[in-house]
Formats: sequence, structure tokens, C-alpha cells
Amino acid sequence: MEYILYETKGAVATITISREKALNALNSTVLTELGQVLDNVDQNEIRCLILTGAGEKSFVAGADIGEMSSLTKIEGEAFGKKGNDVFRRLETFPIPIIAAINGFALGGGCEIAMSCDIRLCSDNAIFGQPEVGLGITPGFGGTQRLARLVGAGMAKQMIYTGRNIKADEAFRIGLVNAVYPAAELMEAAEKMAAGIAKNAPIAVRNAKKAINDGLDVDMDTALVVEEKMFGACFETHDQVEGMTAFMEKRKVEAFLNK
Ligand code: CAA
Repeated sequence: MEYILYETKGAVATITISREKALNALNSTVLTELGQVLDNVDQNEIRCLILTGAGEKSFVAGADIGEMSSLTKIEGEAFGKKGNDVFRRLETFPIPIIAAINGFALGGGCEIAMSCDIRLCSDNAIFGQPEVGLGITPGFGGTQRLARLVGAGMAKQMIYTGRNIKADEAFRIGLVNAVYPAAELMEAAEKMAAGIAKNAPIAVRNAKKAINDGLDVDMDTALVVEEKMFGACFETHDQVEGMTAFMEKRKVEAFLNK
């Protein structure tokens, strides 16, 4: 692939968007390759993914402005759909995804981070939805996910003003889970990913699905979603092993993803 690196370490895989000369901006090729890399994740072996950007300055500086500059209305809508489709795949991917945000997360960069399950960032990270300054709206999910994450009032403020915010403010408003010194970000993301990877994979996946699906429906329906996901864990090898180990006061031998 031209712009995506994929590395595995045990049960954790890291996807790096690598288009450093454009601060990892998302053009059509990057979006296509992101879809391809997800197609090829070995979902039996890999239990947590990390998404980051190449270099020390930028996570993702947005959708590619040069590519968008001459789009027609119909092409603009199609470009939005292309981004939305692949970001939705990240959001609903069966395995958890941690965004390790190592610098600029602007426009599509903030939006791709919001499609991940967990956001960790470096202390030099900058977040923003600057699209209205370019004459467009956020188009890869920003109008929807930002409001859900930080509330409609703060999302509207960020989107209407187009003002960027620093890591500490992103943390304060709940846009990121934690902030680390830049040199420690990847280690922190890998440590968290390894901790997730140690847990029973079916349970982790079912928890992700229950949270995601439950957020889209009313509470009564959401609790039924939870009951289904909870019930589906029973009679698995990993449920039997997890509970037997507890009762026998020993460590789990291995979660086998079955
Ligand atoms: N698209 C295309 N190229 C980009 C880019 C983007 N989003 N962001 C940066 N680049 C390119 C620059 O054009 C420049 O290329 P050249 O060296 O060939 O000139 C290179 O990356 C380095 O950028 P700068 O020289 O501008 O670096 P800087 O340190 O001075 O500034 C920055 C960094 C503040 C991030 C600045 O690059 C910037 O403002 N980028 C655009 C951010 C932005 O507006 N993002 C939102 C895009 S719209 C969007 O994402 C829509 C959507 O929701 C789908």
C-alpha cells in the first residue's frame, strides 16, 4: 500500500496513516487503502488495533483540500460518503480501536479519531473542525459524532467558530480519554491495547457492539441489546474458563476466542 503501514505485535496491530508530506491528509487513495487494511486484519489473531499517523507533527490534518477543491456537488457528496463508509467500518469494526493522536487532528483527522473506540493523545495534539473556514461543513461524520461525544453546545461552538483546541481542552471537554507526553504516547496506547487483548475477546467484542448499538436506540431496546450480547457470552470456552479460574482461585490459562 502507498499510504498505510500495518504492523503486528502479538495480538495488537497498529495501522499508521503515512502520507507525511501532506501531514497525513486523507485523499481518496488513503481512504481506499484504509478499507483494504481493515479487510485484511486477522480477526482471530488480533484483539485490539491502534490507529496513528506517521511523523511527530500530525495525526491527520484533514481530508485532502487539494482533491476537494474542484469537486462538484455530486462529487462532494460521494467523497463524503466514501469517508463516512470507511469511518463507519472503523466504528463498528468487531475489534476495539484506539486512536493514538500524535499531533494535528483537524477536520477529517478529528473525525477519524472520533470513529475509534478510545482516544489517547500527545500533549502537542491540536483538535478542530475548521471546515466552515474553507466553505464546507464537516463531512466525515463531524456534525454527528462530535455532538454525541462532547454535547451539542460544545460541538456547535467548535464547528461554527472553526477554532482549534489544544490537548488539555480536548481532555477537559471529553473529546480525548487521556493526554501523554509525546514520547510516551505510543507506549501508553500499546500498554492499553495489550491490556484489552488479554481479556476474553468475545466478551470485549460483544461489549463494543452492545455499547454502539445501544447508543442508537431507546433505553428499553438498548437493554435488550445488552441482554443478547451478555447471553451470547455464555457456553463459550472463555466464559467457562474465566469463571472456573475465579472459582478455583487460579489465573485464567488462556482465552481462546471461542
Ligand atoms: N489537505 C491537503 N494538504 C494538506 C492538508 C490537507 N488537509 N493539511 C496540510 N497539507 C499539506 C500542506 O499543503 C503542505 O503541503 P506543501 O508542503 O506541498 O505546501 C504540507 O501539508 C505541510 O503543511 P503546512 O506547510 O501548512 O504546515 P504548517 O505546520 O504550516 O501548518 C496545519 C499545519 C495548521 C495543519 C496546516 O497545514 C493546515 O491548516 N492544514 C489544513 C487543516 C484543515 O483545514 N483540515 C480540514 C480539511 S477539510 C475536511 O477535513 C473536510 C471533512 O470533514 C471531510
